[in-house]
Amino acid sequence: MNSDQGSSGMTRRTVIASGAAGVVASGAGPLAGEAEAAAPPRAAAAQATMPVRMTVNGKVRSLSVDPRVTLLDALREHLDLTGSKKGCDHGQCGACTVIAGATANDGRRINSCLSLAVMHDGDTITTIEGLGTPDDLHPMQAAFVKHDGYQCGYCTPGQIVSATATLREIADGVPSHVSTDLMGRMEPSETELRERMSGNICRCAAYANIIAAVREVAGEQA
Ligand code: FES
Ligand code: FES
Repeated sequence: MNSDQGSSGMTRRTVIASGAAGVVASGAGPLAGEAEAAAPPRAAAAQATMPVRMTVNGKVRSLSVDPRVTLLDALREHLDLTGSKKGCDHGQCGACTVIAGATANDGRRINSCLSLAVMHDGDTITTIEGLGTPDDLHPMQAAFVKHDGYQCGYCTPGQIVSATATLREIADGVPSHVSTDLMGRMEPSETELRERMSGNICRCAAYANIIAAVREVAGEQA
């Protein structure tokens, strides 16, 4: 007897096949019909969009997006701002980091893959494209180049945006888990920077050079 064959003479394959046939026969009746009736027409679902107006890198941008679209996808797919990268799409790598806030001055870094675009109606968003240009690099971009703070470069936009916002957090006195003095002046120490940047993963492990770049900018700003 085939090892796949039971005492009834049926093989595992025939049991599965007959089971599947039974499910199709019983499920294709009223239940399937009800589900079909309850589902909205495809055309209507496709048209369910919401208006979003954001100031992105200094420019007012108006969009009409599916309410399920993330901020990252809105930036990349609707506004052609592909500097922010999709690494994990789960809030675990930081490649999609942008700065978001009600105004340009109160922005905080966020993982744009975890935030819906419609939640940012009226907000001000800064992406890597808004920090500097190839001819006029932001100090953080220039420091990354100087210190070789990257290898493949995939994480780099998120690292630079995150580092820029990190230095602002430190200047604003926002404590981290390793801050020893919650009331005094925050110092951009290596320990502080490594903790605050721990959400930005670099698979090329350029961490030592990234820290050197951020510390240099922090020293210039101190
Ligand atoms: S793509 Fe957003 S955290 Fe990884
Ligand atoms: S430079 Fe390659 S992942 Fe960071």
